[in-house]
Amino acid sequence: MEESRENWGSKIGLILAMAGNAVGLGNFWRFPYVAASNGGGAFMIPYFFALIVIGIPIMLVEWSIGRYGGKHGHGTLGPMMYLQAKQAMKPKKAIIVGSLCGMIAFAVTILVNSYYNHIIGWSLGYAVHSLLGTYMKPGVDSAAFFASYVQNPAMLIFWVISLLFLAMAVMKGIQKGIESWAKLMMPTLYVFGIILGIRALTLGSPVNPDWSSLAGLNFIWNPDFSRLSWQSAIAAAGQIFFTLSLGMGIIHNYASYLQPDEDIVTSSVATISLNEFAEVILGGTAVIPIAYAFLGPEGIKGSIGLAFMALPNVFTNMAGGGIFGAMWFLLLFFAGITSAIAMYNYLVALLEEDLGIERKKGAIIVFIGYLIVGAPIALESVLTKSANLFYFTEVDNWIGNYLLIVLGLIEIIIIGWCVKDSALEEMNKGGLWKVPKWFFRLFHQFLTPVTIIVFLVFFTRDYAI
Ligand code: PHE
Repeated sequence: MEESRENWGSKIGLILAMAGNAVGLGNFWRFPYVAASNGGGAFMIPYFFALIVIGIPIMLVEWSIGRYGGKHGHGTLGPMMYLQAKQAMKPKKAIIVGSLCGMIAFAVTILVNSYYNHIIGWSLGYAVHSLLGTYMKPGVDSAAFFASYVQNPAMLIFWVISLLFLAMAVMKGIQKGIESWAKLMMPTLYVFGIILGIRALTLGSPVNPDWSSLAGLNFIWNPDFSRLSWQSAIAAAGQIFFTLSLGMGIIHNYASYLQPDEDIVTSSVATISLNEFAEVILGGTAVIPIAYAFLGPEGIKGSIGLAFMALPNVFTNMAGGGIFGAMWFLLLFFAGITSAIAMYNYLVALLEEDLGIERKKGAIIVFIGYLIVGAPIALESVLTKSANLFYFTEVDNWIGNYLLIVLGLIEIIIIGWCVKDSALEEMNKGGLWKVPKWFFRLFHQFLTPVTIIVFLVFFTRDYAI
Protein backbone atom coordinates (compact mmCIF):
# COMPACT_ATOMS: atom_id res chain seq x y z
CA MET A 1 0.00 0.00 0.00
CA GLU A 2 2.78 2.44 0.92
CA GLU A 3 4.24 2.64 -2.58
CA SER A 4 0.88 3.46 -4.17
CA ARG A 5 0.31 6.41 -1.85
CA GLU A 6 -0.08 9.70 -3.70
CA ASN A 7 1.63 13.03 -2.96
CA TRP A 8 0.58 16.57 -3.77
CA GLY A 9 1.51 17.41 -7.35
CA SER A 10 2.95 20.88 -6.75
CA LYS A 11 3.65 23.40 -4.04
CA ILE A 12 0.89 25.71 -5.25
CA GLY A 13 -1.49 22.76 -5.40
CA LEU A 14 -0.60 21.82 -1.82
CA ILE A 15 -1.11 25.35 -0.48
CA LEU A 16 -4.41 25.81 -2.31
CA ALA A 17 -5.66 22.41 -1.15
CA MET A 18 -4.69 23.16 2.45
CA ALA A 19 -6.27 26.62 2.18
CA GLY A 20 -9.33 24.92 0.69
CA ASN A 21 -9.38 22.62 3.69
CA ALA A 22 -9.23 25.51 6.16
CA VAL A 23 -11.23 28.19 4.34
CA GLY A 24 -14.78 26.99 4.60
CA LEU A 25 -18.26 27.79 5.80
CA GLY A 26 -16.55 28.53 9.09
CA ASN A 27 -15.11 31.71 7.58
CA PHE A 28 -18.15 33.10 5.83
CA TRP A 29 -21.15 31.58 7.53
CA ARG A 30 -19.98 30.81 11.08
CA PHE A 31 -17.48 33.59 11.82
CA PRO A 32 -19.91 36.47 11.15
CA TYR A 33 -22.65 34.94 13.27
CA VAL A 34 -20.38 33.93 16.16
CA ALA A 35 -18.60 37.31 16.15
CA ALA A 36 -21.91 39.16 16.02
CA SER A 37 -23.43 37.13 18.85
CA ASN A 38 -20.38 37.78 21.02
CA GLY A 39 -20.32 41.54 20.70
CA GLY A 40 -18.43 42.14 17.43
CA GLY A 41 -15.27 44.06 18.36
CA ALA A 42 -15.12 42.51 21.84
CA PHE A 43 -14.95 39.09 20.24
CA MET A 44 -11.91 40.03 18.16
CA ILE A 45 -9.67 40.38 21.23
CA PRO A 46 -9.84 36.76 22.43
CA TYR A 47 -10.01 35.75 18.77
CA PHE A 48 -6.57 37.11 17.87
CA PHE A 49 -5.18 35.89 21.18
CA ALA A 50 -6.43 32.37 20.45
CA LEU A 51 -5.08 32.53 16.90
CA ILE A 52 -1.55 33.16 18.12
CA VAL A 53 -1.50 31.10 21.30
CA ILE A 54 -3.62 28.14 20.19
CA GLY A 55 -4.08 28.18 16.40
CA ILE A 56 -0.51 28.55 15.16
CA PRO A 57 1.12 26.04 17.57
CA ILE A 58 -1.52 23.37 16.97
CA MET A 59 -1.43 23.86 13.20
CA LEU A 60 2.34 23.20 13.24
CA VAL A 61 1.76 20.07 15.31
CA GLU A 62 -0.91 18.68 13.00
CA TRP A 63 1.24 19.10 9.88
CA SER A 64 4.08 17.33 11.64
CA ILE A 65 2.04 14.43 12.94
CA GLY A 66 0.46 13.99 9.54
CA ARG A 67 3.72 13.84 7.63
CA TYR A 68 5.42 11.75 10.27
CA GLY A 69 2.70 9.15 10.22
CA GLY A 70 2.13 9.21 6.46
CA LYS A 71 -1.27 7.83 7.17
CA HIS A 72 -4.81 9.15 7.34
CA GLY A 73 -4.23 10.98 10.58
CA HIS A 74 -5.83 9.24 13.48
CA GLY A 75 -3.55 6.26 13.16
CA THR A 76 -0.46 8.38 13.50
CA LEU A 77 -0.63 9.61 17.06
CA GLY A 78 -0.43 6.08 18.36
CA PRO A 79 2.74 4.95 16.54
CA MET A 80 4.45 8.30 17.07
CA MET A 81 3.84 8.03 20.75
CA TYR A 82 4.98 4.45 20.69
CA LEU A 83 8.40 5.48 19.44
CA GLN A 84 8.81 8.11 22.08
CA ALA A 85 7.04 6.23 24.79
CA LYS A 86 10.13 5.73 26.86
CA GLN A 87 9.96 9.38 27.70
CA ALA A 88 6.64 9.39 29.42
CA MET A 89 4.19 6.60 29.04
CA LYS A 90 4.28 2.87 28.67
CA PRO A 91 3.99 2.00 24.97
CA LYS A 92 0.66 0.26 25.32
CA LYS A 93 -0.90 3.19 27.09
CA ALA A 94 0.44 5.57 24.48
CA ILE A 95 -1.18 3.64 21.67
CA ILE A 96 -4.47 3.43 23.50
CA VAL A 97 -4.62 7.20 24.12
CA GLY A 98 -3.59 7.96 20.52
CA SER A 99 -6.13 5.62 19.03
CA LEU A 100 -8.86 6.80 21.36
CA CYS A 101 -8.23 10.38 20.29
CA GLY A 102 -8.45 9.24 16.70
CA MET A 103 -11.76 7.52 17.28
CA ILE A 104 -13.31 10.56 18.90
CA ALA A 105 -11.98 12.74 16.07
CA PHE A 106 -13.55 10.32 13.61
CA ALA A 107 -16.93 10.59 15.36
CA VAL A 108 -16.67 14.39 15.48
CA THR A 109 -15.95 14.53 11.75
CA ILE A 110 -19.12 12.59 11.08
CA LEU A 111 -21.09 14.83 13.42
CA VAL A 112 -19.80 17.98 11.69
CA ASN A 113 -20.90 16.55 8.38
CA SER A 114 -24.41 15.90 9.65
CA TYR A 115 -25.08 19.65 9.32
CA TYR A 116 -22.15 21.07 7.33
CA ASN A 117 -23.27 19.44 4.09
CA HIS A 118 -26.74 20.90 4.50
CA ILE A 119 -25.32 24.40 4.50
CA ILE A 120 -23.40 23.55 1.34
CA GLY A 121 -26.70 22.41 -0.18
CA TRP A 122 -28.44 25.63 0.93
CA SER A 123 -25.64 27.66 -0.67
CA LEU A 124 -26.05 25.92 -4.00
CA GLY A 125 -29.82 26.24 -3.80
CA TYR A 126 -29.58 29.93 -2.94
CA ALA A 127 -27.13 30.55 -5.80
CA VAL A 128 -29.76 29.17 -8.18
CA HIS A 129 -32.52 31.21 -6.51
CA SER A 130 -30.38 34.36 -6.81
CA LEU A 131 -30.04 33.87 -10.55
CA LEU A 132 -33.77 33.17 -10.86
CA GLY A 133 -34.52 36.17 -8.64
CA THR A 134 -37.03 34.17 -6.53
CA TYR A 135 -36.30 35.84 -3.21
CA MET A 136 -36.11 39.26 -4.84
CA LYS A 137 -39.73 39.43 -5.95
CA PRO A 138 -41.67 42.33 -4.41
CA GLY A 139 -43.24 41.43 -1.08
CA VAL A 140 -40.95 38.45 -0.39
CA ASP A 141 -39.36 38.69 3.03
CA SER A 142 -35.99 36.97 3.20
CA ALA A 143 -36.50 35.45 6.67
CA ALA A 144 -39.80 33.99 5.53
CA PHE A 145 -38.13 32.80 2.34
CA PHE A 146 -35.43 31.01 4.36
CA ALA A 147 -38.10 29.36 6.52
CA SER A 148 -39.98 28.12 3.50
CA TYR A 149 -36.74 26.99 1.87
CA VAL A 150 -35.66 24.76 4.76
CA GLN A 151 -39.15 23.37 5.19
CA ASN A 152 -39.44 22.37 1.57
CA PRO A 153 -38.29 18.75 1.09
CA ALA A 154 -37.75 19.34 -2.64
CA MET A 155 -34.85 21.67 -1.80
CA LEU A 156 -32.98 18.72 -0.30
CA ILE A 157 -32.05 17.92 -3.87
CA PHE A 158 -29.25 20.51 -3.60
CA TRP A 159 -27.89 18.65 -0.57
CA VAL A 160 -27.87 15.36 -2.48
CA ILE A 161 -26.21 16.99 -5.52
CA SER A 162 -23.50 18.39 -3.24
CA LEU A 163 -22.89 14.97 -1.71
CA LEU A 164 -22.62 13.38 -5.16
CA PHE A 165 -20.14 16.07 -6.18
CA LEU A 166 -18.03 15.33 -3.10
CA ALA A 167 -18.08 11.59 -3.72
CA MET A 168 -16.94 12.03 -7.31
CA ALA A 169 -14.18 14.48 -6.43
CA VAL A 170 -12.76 12.20 -3.74
CA MET A 171 -12.98 9.08 -5.95
CA LYS A 172 -10.55 10.75 -8.36
CA GLY A 173 -7.83 10.86 -5.74
CA ILE A 174 -5.42 13.47 -4.45
CA GLN A 175 -3.99 15.16 -7.54
CA LYS A 176 -6.77 14.69 -10.08
CA GLY A 177 -9.61 15.18 -7.62
CA ILE A 178 -8.77 17.30 -4.61
CA GLU A 179 -5.89 19.33 -5.99
CA SER A 180 -7.47 20.24 -9.28
CA TRP A 181 -10.76 21.35 -7.69
CA ALA A 182 -8.85 23.46 -5.17
CA LYS A 183 -6.88 25.13 -7.97
CA LEU A 184 -10.11 26.12 -9.67
CA MET A 185 -12.34 26.97 -6.74
CA MET A 186 -9.97 28.76 -4.35
CA PRO A 187 -8.81 31.56 -6.66
CA THR A 188 -12.41 32.09 -7.83
CA LEU A 189 -13.52 32.31 -4.22
CA TYR A 190 -10.98 35.03 -3.44
CA VAL A 191 -11.93 37.03 -6.55
CA PHE A 192 -15.63 36.86 -5.61
CA GLY A 193 -14.83 37.77 -2.01
CA ILE A 194 -12.81 40.82 -3.01
CA ILE A 195 -15.52 42.05 -5.39
CA LEU A 196 -18.18 41.63 -2.68
CA GLY A 197 -15.93 43.29 -0.08
CA ILE A 198 -15.44 46.36 -2.28
CA ARG A 199 -19.16 46.51 -3.01
CA ALA A 200 -19.93 46.19 0.70
CA LEU A 201 -17.75 49.16 1.61
CA THR A 202 -19.80 51.47 -0.56
CA LEU A 203 -23.13 50.25 0.72
CA GLY A 204 -25.68 52.54 2.29
CA SER A 205 -28.39 51.03 4.43
CA PRO A 206 -31.77 50.48 2.76
CA VAL A 207 -33.36 50.73 6.21
CA ASN A 208 -31.66 53.46 8.22
CA PRO A 209 -29.09 56.02 6.98
CA ASP A 210 -27.04 55.54 10.17
CA TRP A 211 -26.45 51.87 9.46
CA SER A 212 -24.00 52.30 6.61
CA SER A 213 -21.37 49.68 6.02
CA LEU A 214 -18.82 51.96 7.68
CA ALA A 215 -20.85 51.83 10.88
CA GLY A 216 -20.77 48.07 10.43
CA LEU A 217 -16.98 48.16 10.27
CA ASN A 218 -16.99 50.10 13.48
CA PHE A 219 -19.09 47.37 15.09
CA ILE A 220 -16.50 44.72 14.29
CA TRP A 221 -13.31 46.75 14.76
CA ASN A 222 -14.13 48.98 17.70
CA PRO A 223 -14.42 46.81 20.80
CA ASP A 224 -16.97 47.43 23.50
CA PHE A 225 -14.97 46.10 26.44
CA SER A 226 -18.06 45.55 28.56
CA ARG A 227 -18.95 42.67 26.23
CA LEU A 228 -15.76 40.70 27.03
CA SER A 229 -16.55 37.43 28.80
CA TRP A 230 -15.38 33.84 29.19
CA GLN A 231 -18.23 32.93 26.93
CA SER A 232 -16.69 35.03 24.15
CA ALA A 233 -13.24 33.63 24.96
CA ILE A 234 -14.36 30.04 24.54
CA ALA A 235 -16.36 30.95 21.45
CA ALA A 236 -13.21 32.55 20.01
CA ALA A 237 -11.05 29.52 20.77
CA GLY A 238 -13.69 27.24 19.30
CA GLN A 239 -13.89 29.38 16.19
CA ILE A 240 -10.11 29.14 15.75
CA PHE A 241 -10.32 25.34 15.86
CA PHE A 242 -13.26 25.33 13.49
CA THR A 243 -11.86 27.73 10.95
CA LEU A 244 -8.36 26.24 10.86
CA SER A 245 -9.82 22.70 10.70
CA LEU A 246 -7.94 21.71 13.84
CA GLY A 247 -8.64 18.87 16.23
CA MET A 248 -10.35 16.55 13.77
CA GLY A 249 -7.63 14.80 11.83
CA ILE A 250 -8.23 16.48 8.48
CA ILE A 251 -5.09 18.62 8.55
CA HIS A 252 -3.09 15.50 9.52
CA ASN A 253 -4.66 13.69 6.62
CA TYR A 254 -3.71 16.33 4.03
CA ALA A 255 -0.24 16.62 5.57
CA SER A 256 0.23 12.89 5.18
CA TYR A 257 0.50 13.47 1.41
CA LEU A 258 3.44 15.88 1.86
CA GLN A 259 6.84 15.28 0.35
CA PRO A 260 9.44 14.43 2.99
CA ASP A 261 11.38 17.65 2.37
CA GLU A 262 8.39 20.01 2.48
CA ASP A 263 8.91 23.13 4.57
CA ILE A 264 6.22 22.74 7.23
CA VAL A 265 6.67 26.10 8.92
CA THR A 266 6.39 28.20 5.75
CA SER A 267 3.56 26.19 4.26
CA SER A 268 1.47 26.13 7.40
CA VAL A 269 1.97 29.85 7.96
CA ALA A 270 0.89 30.42 4.33
CA THR A 271 -2.24 28.34 4.94
CA ILE A 272 -3.09 30.24 8.12
CA SER A 273 -2.58 33.60 6.38
CA LEU A 274 -4.83 32.68 3.47
CA ASN A 275 -7.45 31.49 5.93
CA GLU A 276 -7.31 34.59 8.11
CA PHE A 277 -7.48 36.88 5.08
CA ALA A 278 -10.66 35.09 4.04
CA GLU A 279 -12.10 35.12 7.54
CA VAL A 280 -11.22 38.49 9.00
CA ILE A 281 -10.95 40.63 5.88
CA LEU A 282 -13.52 39.03 3.61
CA GLY A 283 -15.86 37.45 6.19
CA GLY A 284 -15.50 40.35 8.62
CA THR A 285 -15.30 43.26 6.26
CA ALA A 286 -17.79 42.09 3.69
CA VAL A 287 -20.39 40.00 5.44
CA ILE A 288 -20.72 41.80 8.77
CA PRO A 289 -21.12 45.30 7.29
CA ILE A 290 -23.61 43.99 4.71
CA ALA A 291 -25.66 42.36 7.46
CA TYR A 292 -25.29 45.47 9.65
CA ALA A 293 -26.60 47.71 6.89
CA PHE A 294 -29.82 45.81 7.04
CA LEU A 295 -30.14 44.78 10.69
CA GLY A 296 -28.48 47.63 12.56
CA PRO A 297 -26.83 47.50 16.00
CA GLU A 298 -29.77 45.86 17.76
CA GLY A 299 -30.65 43.36 15.10
CA ILE A 300 -27.18 41.99 14.43
CA LYS A 301 -27.20 39.37 17.16
CA GLY A 302 -26.25 36.59 14.87
CA SER A 303 -27.86 33.24 14.33
CA ILE A 304 -27.05 30.37 12.07
CA GLY A 305 -29.34 31.99 9.52
CA LEU A 306 -27.43 35.30 9.33
CA ALA A 307 -25.80 34.58 5.98
CA PHE A 308 -29.05 33.29 4.52
CA MET A 309 -31.56 35.73 6.00
CA ALA A 310 -29.83 39.10 6.28
CA LEU A 311 -27.80 39.13 3.10
CA PRO A 312 -30.54 38.32 0.56
CA ASN A 313 -32.45 41.38 1.76
CA VAL A 314 -29.54 43.57 0.83
CA PHE A 315 -29.15 41.94 -2.58
CA THR A 316 -32.84 42.55 -3.20
CA ASN A 317 -32.30 46.27 -2.70
CA MET A 318 -29.13 46.51 -4.75
CA ALA A 319 -28.65 47.18 -8.46
CA GLY A 320 -27.45 43.91 -10.03
CA GLY A 321 -28.43 42.10 -6.81
CA GLY A 322 -29.02 38.81 -8.62
CA ILE A 323 -25.41 38.66 -9.77
CA PHE A 324 -23.99 39.73 -6.41
CA GLY A 325 -26.27 37.25 -4.67
CA ALA A 326 -25.18 34.41 -6.94
CA MET A 327 -21.55 35.39 -6.37
CA TRP A 328 -21.98 35.34 -2.61
CA PHE A 329 -23.71 31.96 -2.52
CA LEU A 330 -21.28 30.41 -4.99
CA LEU A 331 -18.46 31.68 -2.80
CA LEU A 332 -20.10 29.90 0.15
CA PHE A 333 -20.55 26.78 -1.95
CA PHE A 334 -16.89 26.69 -3.08
CA ALA A 335 -15.68 27.37 0.47
CA GLY A 336 -17.87 24.58 1.84
CA ILE A 337 -17.05 22.05 -0.88
CA THR A 338 -13.26 22.36 -0.60
CA SER A 339 -13.47 21.81 3.18
CA ALA A 340 -15.99 19.00 2.91
CA ILE A 341 -13.69 17.28 0.39
CA ALA A 342 -11.00 17.28 3.10
CA MET A 343 -13.31 15.66 5.62
CA TYR A 344 -14.60 13.18 3.05
CA ASN A 345 -11.09 12.21 2.01
CA TYR A 346 -10.06 11.68 5.63
CA LEU A 347 -12.89 9.19 6.13
CA VAL A 348 -12.19 7.43 2.81
CA ALA A 349 -8.45 7.23 3.61
CA LEU A 350 -9.31 5.69 6.94
CA LEU A 351 -11.45 3.00 5.30
CA GLU A 352 -8.77 2.43 2.67
CA GLU A 353 -5.73 2.31 4.89
CA ASP A 354 -7.15 0.64 7.98
CA LEU A 355 -9.72 -1.70 6.52
CA GLY A 356 -8.36 -2.22 3.01
CA ILE A 357 -11.53 -0.93 1.35
CA GLU A 358 -10.84 0.39 -2.13
CA ARG A 359 -11.19 4.19 -2.64
CA LYS A 360 -14.27 4.04 -4.88
CA LYS A 361 -16.14 1.72 -2.54
CA GLY A 362 -15.07 3.81 0.44
CA ALA A 363 -16.46 6.92 -1.22
CA ILE A 364 -19.82 5.18 -1.70
CA ILE A 365 -19.89 4.03 1.94
CA VAL A 366 -19.23 7.58 3.15
CA PHE A 367 -21.93 8.91 0.81
CA ILE A 368 -24.51 6.55 2.33
CA GLY A 369 -23.25 7.34 5.84
CA TYR A 370 -23.67 11.07 5.20
CA LEU A 371 -27.25 10.59 3.99
CA ILE A 372 -28.04 8.75 7.23
CA VAL A 373 -26.38 11.17 9.67
CA GLY A 374 -27.76 14.16 7.75
CA ALA A 375 -31.33 12.86 7.89
CA PRO A 376 -32.27 14.28 11.34
CA ILE A 377 -31.29 17.76 10.25
CA ALA A 378 -32.99 17.36 6.89
CA LEU A 379 -36.15 16.33 8.69
CA GLU A 380 -35.96 18.76 11.63
CA SER A 381 -37.35 21.73 9.78
CA VAL A 382 -39.58 19.73 7.46
CA LEU A 383 -41.33 17.96 10.34
CA THR A 384 -41.42 20.76 12.91
CA LYS A 385 -42.50 23.24 10.24
CA SER A 386 -40.13 25.79 11.70
CA ALA A 387 -36.84 27.40 10.78
CA ASN A 388 -35.57 27.49 14.34
CA LEU A 389 -33.26 24.52 13.85
CA PHE A 390 -32.68 23.83 17.56
CA TYR A 391 -30.97 20.50 17.10
CA PHE A 392 -28.72 21.95 14.39
CA THR A 393 -27.69 24.89 16.59
CA GLU A 394 -27.05 22.58 19.54
CA VAL A 395 -24.76 20.31 17.51
CA ASP A 396 -22.83 23.32 16.20
CA ASN A 397 -22.43 24.68 19.76
CA TRP A 398 -21.12 21.38 21.03
CA ILE A 399 -18.61 21.08 18.23
CA GLY A 400 -17.42 24.68 18.55
CA ASN A 401 -17.50 25.09 22.32
CA TYR A 402 -16.28 21.73 23.53
CA LEU A 403 -15.46 18.85 21.24
CA LEU A 404 -12.77 20.33 18.97
CA ILE A 405 -11.21 22.23 21.87
CA VAL A 406 -10.94 19.16 24.09
CA LEU A 407 -9.48 17.08 21.27
CA GLY A 408 -6.93 19.81 20.61
CA LEU A 409 -6.04 19.91 24.31
CA ILE A 410 -5.36 16.18 24.45
CA GLU A 411 -3.32 16.43 21.26
CA ILE A 412 -1.16 19.32 22.46
CA ILE A 413 -0.50 17.63 25.82
CA ILE A 414 0.55 14.41 24.10
CA ILE A 415 2.80 16.23 21.65
CA GLY A 416 4.15 18.84 24.04
CA TRP A 417 4.89 16.44 26.87
CA CYS A 418 5.06 12.87 25.61
CA VAL A 419 6.64 13.06 22.18
CA LYS A 420 8.27 16.46 22.36
CA ASP A 421 11.65 15.79 20.74
CA SER A 422 10.52 13.94 17.66
CA ALA A 423 7.63 16.36 17.17
CA LEU A 424 10.00 19.33 17.05
CA GLU A 425 12.40 17.45 14.82
CA GLU A 426 9.62 16.61 12.38
CA MET A 427 8.40 20.23 12.30
CA ASN A 428 11.85 21.43 11.32
CA LYS A 429 12.70 18.73 8.81
CA GLY A 430 13.32 20.12 5.33
CA GLY A 431 12.42 23.61 6.40
CA LEU A 432 13.92 26.94 5.57
CA TRP A 433 12.47 28.36 8.76
CA LYS A 434 12.86 26.43 11.98
CA VAL A 435 10.75 26.47 15.10
CA PRO A 436 13.21 27.34 17.88
CA LYS A 437 13.27 25.18 20.97
CA TRP A 438 12.25 28.07 23.24
CA PHE A 439 9.15 28.62 21.13
CA PHE A 440 8.18 24.97 21.45
CA ARG A 441 8.77 25.05 25.20
CA LEU A 442 6.90 28.30 25.69
CA PHE A 443 3.91 27.62 23.45
CA HIS A 444 3.47 23.90 22.86
CA GLN A 445 4.38 22.84 26.35
CA PHE A 446 3.01 25.71 28.35
CA LEU A 447 0.92 28.57 26.95
CA THR A 448 -1.25 26.58 24.54
CA PRO A 449 -2.46 23.88 26.94
CA VAL A 450 -2.75 26.29 29.89
CA THR A 451 -4.81 28.78 27.87
CA ILE A 452 -7.19 26.08 26.72
CA ILE A 453 -7.60 24.78 30.27
CA VAL A 454 -8.18 28.27 31.70
CA PHE A 455 -10.76 29.08 29.00
CA LEU A 456 -12.59 25.80 29.57
CA VAL A 457 -12.60 26.04 33.36
CA PHE A 458 -13.83 29.64 33.56
CA PHE A 459 -16.37 29.17 30.81
CA THR A 460 -17.80 26.07 32.45
CA ARG A 461 -17.90 27.85 35.82
CA ASP A 462 -19.77 30.85 34.36
CA TYR A 463 -22.08 28.56 32.51
CA ALA A 464 -22.91 26.53 35.59
CA ILE A 465 -23.90 29.59 37.63
N1 PHE B 1 -12.20 24.73 8.48
C1 PHE B 1 -13.33 24.45 7.68
C2 PHE B 1 -14.35 25.54 7.86
O1 PHE B 1 -14.02 26.57 8.37
C3 PHE B 1 -13.84 23.04 7.82
C4 PHE B 1 -14.13 22.53 9.19
C5 PHE B 1 -15.36 22.56 9.72
C6 PHE B 1 -13.17 21.98 9.96
C7 PHE B 1 -15.63 22.07 10.98
C8 PHE B 1 -13.40 21.54 11.24
C9 PHE B 1 -14.66 21.59 11.74
O2 PHE B 1 -15.48 25.46 7.47
